[in-house]
Amino acid sequence: MPEHWTPDSWRSKPVVQIPDYADPKELADVEAQLAVFPPLVFAGEARNLKKALGRVARGEAFLLQGGDCAESFAEHGANNIRDFFRVFLQMAVVLTYAGALPVVKLGRIAGQFAKPRSAPTETINGIELPSYRGDIVNDIAPRLEARVPDPQRQLMAYRQSAATLNLLRAFATGGFANLGSVHQWMLGFLEDSPQSRRYKELADRISDALNFMRACGLNLESHPELRATDFYTSHEALLLGYEQAMTRIDSTTGDWYATSGHMLWIGDRTRQLENGHVEYFRGIKNPIGIKCGPSIRPDELLRLIDVLNPDNEPGRLTLIGRFGADKIDQHLPALVRTVQREGRVVVWSCDPMHGNTISSRSGYKTRPFDRILSEVKSFFAVHAAEGSYAGGIHLEMTGKDVTECLGGTPAITDADLDDRYHSVCDPRLNAEQSIDMAFLIAELLKNERSGRPTVVAAKGG
Ligand code: TRP
Ligand code: MN
Repeated sequence: MPEHWTPDSWRSKPVVQIPDYADPKELADVEAQLAVFPPLVFAGEARNLKKALGRVARGEAFLLQGGDCAESFAEHGANNIRDFFRVFLQMAVVLTYAGALPVVKLGRIAGQFAKPRSAPTETINGIELPSYRGDIVNDIAPRLEARVPDPQRQLMAYRQSAATLNLLRAFATGGFANLGSVHQWMLGFLEDSPQSRRYKELADRISDALNFMRACGLNLESHPELRATDFYTSHEALLLGYEQAMTRIDSTTGDWYATSGHMLWIGDRTRQLENGHVEYFRGIKNPIGIKCGPSIRPDELLRLIDVLNPDNEPGRLTLIGRFGADKIDQHLPALVRTVQREGRVVVWSCDPMHGNTISSRSGYKTRPFDRILSEVKSFFAVHAAEGSYAGGIHLEMTGKDVTECLGGTPAITDADLDDRYHSVCDPRLNAEQSIDMAFLIAELLKNERSGRPTVVAAKGG
């Protein structure tokens, strides 16, 4: 019999990656304020996402999850949100069309503020400072005072999440996401690139199809499924005090839900079975994710599944692998076999970003596009070989024209990184690279669905 769960039962367990605050009273005050603020999402929406992910688990849909590595207070603006959403819709439409199946749209946004760090301190310009842990915790400025964890930042993060989500909801249902606007989502700087030509071709075909249906007498305006889309939010639930304050009872079912986002995931650094993070996650009814790196063993994964999805509910669990292009073949097959053998229903998703981070010669943290793609290809190949379904992709991406990841078409070079490296955390795919990636994944998805081997055309073609 599992022990009794409450939103604060994690507090009696060990936790890692949660900062020490100097003033516990100030922290408690902030958490008490958050606890009476309106929820950001509703339980019914989280249940709808879980149902949609259940369809992914059965191979009837594909999961697209993406957004910033970390959101920042400084970059909070309408244009950023619009540019992100626009590229995200373009990617979704590419995948929907090529895969001929629904795409579950899940942003890494409106709450993605807390970052786990590999060391408690970092050295910048010869000065040792407490590590930056995301804008919800401290300030990235390389000064000692800036790095002190400040509870008030949680209120800022809540308000920014609310405003971001408000705009995303408006975009998703208010007309921006209308399939009839498929041409308008093209970005200015995408004009006349290989991706833009390819995207335009696809948009033309969609317009043709819509016009054909209209000519057949179908009134497209009376079909909300063409005019709107379901867009969901997700983030790594690292800061458990914040998450606890946002955890509420759903009055219709009596169940506990995290209301800070529709889906939350546990990081690869905080998934210890006996620790507070797993304890928190086991009690909320949202769909959840587990990041799985090279260190996770099949038996360990199985025990995590036992604790986090004891009823084997489809859509509850998404396993997000982040192994690295050179390690995925060595680790993923055993995990897939174990889960299949035990009859556990999960969504298998691939995060090809975090295992493929390198230092560029110029000293930037970067990720080569080819390595990212290579991990994605291996992900599809492993699932084809094991007879399971490669169900989703998890990307760090932005709608901006940044230069953070190497390669793509036109290729970003080492020397370009200095131009527009804006990420406060990990390097993201820029708009063109994101669309490039969507077309490449679409081919893999098409092959997966037709049972053909995973052969991908030369990139950008
Ligand atoms: N409602 C459908 C969906 O979300 C079709 C759709 C409307 C759509 N707008 C979209 C698909 C934008 C992708 C992108 O899948
Ligand atoms: Mn990251």
